[in-house]
Amino acid sequence: MTGVNNYSVFCFVITCVCLLSSVTPGDTIDACRHNNDIHVYNCSGLNIVDVPDKSEIPNNIKLLDLSNNDIGNVTFLNYDQLTDCLKVLNLSKNRIHALNAEAFKILINLETLDLSNNLLTGEHLEENNFANLDKLLTVNMSRNPLRQIKSKTFSFMELGAIVYLDLSHSEISLIEPTSMDLPSLERLDLSWNKIQTLDETMFKMMVNLLYLDLSHNEIQVLTEIPYMPELISLNLDYNIIQEIQVKERMELYTDKLEYIYIRYNDIIFFNETSFPLELESLQVIDMSNNELQCDCNMKWIKEETYDFQKKNFTFICDHPKSVKSKDLLSLSADDLTCGRPLVLILSVFVVLSVGLFVVGLITFFAIRRCRKKRQQKHRGDNSGDYTAVYNRDEDVRVAMADDKNLISKNNEFDV
Ligand SMILES: *[C@@H]1O[C@H](CO)[C@@H](O)[C@H](O)[C@H]1NC(C)=O
Ligand SMILES: *[C@@H]1O[C@H](CO)[C@@H](O)[C@H](O)[C@H]1NC(C)=O
Ligand SMILES: *[C@@H]1O[C@H](CO)[C@@H](O)[C@H](O)[C@H]1NC(C)=O
Ligand SMILES: *[C@@H]1O[C@H](CO)[C@@H](O)[C@H](O)[C@H]1NC(C)=O
Ligand SMILES: *[C@@H]1O[C@H](CO)[C@@H](O)[C@H](O)[C@H]1NC(C)=O
Ligand SMILES: *[C@@H]1O[C@H](CO)[C@@H](O)[C@H](O)[C@H]1NC(C)=O
Repeated sequence: MTGVNNYSVFCFVITCVCLLSSVTPGDTIDACRHNNDIHVYNCSGLNIVDVPDKSEIPNNIKLLDLSNNDIGNVTFLNYDQLTDCLKVLNLSKNRIHALNAEAFKILINLETLDLSNNLLTGEHLEENNFANLDKLLTVNMSRNPLRQIKSKTFSFMELGAIVYLDLSHSEISLIEPTSMDLPSLERLDLSWNKIQTLDETMFKMMVNLLYLDLSHNEIQVLTEIPYMPELISLNLDYNIIQEIQVKERMELYTDKLEYIYIRYNDIIFFNETSFPLELESLQVIDMSNNELQCDCNMKWIKEETYDFQKKNFTFICDHPKSVKSKDLLSLSADDLTCGRPLVLILSVFVVLSVGLFVVGLITFFAIRRCRKKRQQKHRGDNSGDYTAVYNRDEDVRVAMADDKNLISKNNEFDV
């Protein structure tokens, strides 16, 4: 009997230990809730500091909301009970600065990963952060101080199905070569960063990219674009673009491009090699709010046999004043003149007058001198002005004459 009793006590103790260990650290996690959906487990806004352990997470949930907490280090998520079912993991609005390699590798059916509003830096993103996530469709890393994207950070070897990558508001100024190699990606949001140049090596096989948002960056000159054969829309609004030369490459790369937005930039002038104006698919170029100078340098757009009838191209003029706010395409070739400003006309006039005056003076003196020389030749020593000052009868006498022979008493006078 005592043996049985002892055995029961042993079992009771073991059970208690198991229950206790599976519930700790009670207070925060207990507050997670299912809301109305048994497949949603909501641990949002509970001041959680570490990612919850496997035992704290129920089975069969599709969405795990860990947003609005204080998680700093995303360690390995060992939720093997969720391998088949978890589709959405929300880690937005935490303090995540460390993301362990392969942290998510057991969650192979994940479709949406929200890491937005955290403290991740590009320097600490590893090549294998997204290992095994080949069902993942959307990755949101918006509003992290990423600053740079290192080579091979986003690779199809891991993210084989990704469609949408949000890297906006992330202080990105450096995108290393081959940092993005995502053949399935359709939307890439790089807006609100500090990107200054675009070059062909940044992306590798972005062969399905449809929408590229580069608005609110610091691009000044755009002469290179990466290979994006399916691109439909390129958004370059709110940069500081002064020069754009992408016609050749775009024509070479794509026949799908429909929209180029380039509003709020600093373009003064563009030419035949700036845009793929003849690309049949291209429907919209919007160049409102630039510095466009609609003068004789833009005449080419009238002279060429472009057919803009079915297009929605907007090139709003900023200078000269007479055509300000008008659309370049609505002007006639005669409107596109290079009028001389008044200041220029006046200065030309002044320079010309001074020039003429100087030439006149030189001519006048030259002629006078020639004449005198000729007279001298004719008269030998008999020409010139002569003055003689001498002393006679204790007076100083001065005599003046045109000829030294003529100095005589006749034309002398007292001083
Ligand atoms: C989780 O709860 C928070 C706060 O109650 C709510 O704002 C949020 O929408 C919920 N998340 C989901 C996925 O229902
Ligand atoms: C995050 O946690 C892991 C596992 O405990 C540890 O190895 C790593 O050093 C931690 N990282 C940081 C930055 O604290
Ligand atoms: C994640 O949570 C944040 C804040 O609670 C919410 O704004 C966001 O929409 C959620 N993300 C997803 C993918 O549901
Ligand atoms: C990513 O997160 C930001 C901030 O939470 C949100 O505004 C944005 O819509 C999200 N992007 C996607 C693609 O869901
Ligand atoms: C257009 O302008 C660029 C630079 O401003 C120049 O290199 C190019 O030769 C010009 N193209 C034509 C056709 O004038
Ligand atoms: C032309 O494109 C602009 C966008 O740049 C759009 O707002 C406008 O509605 C379009 N107009 C037509 C007639 O399609």
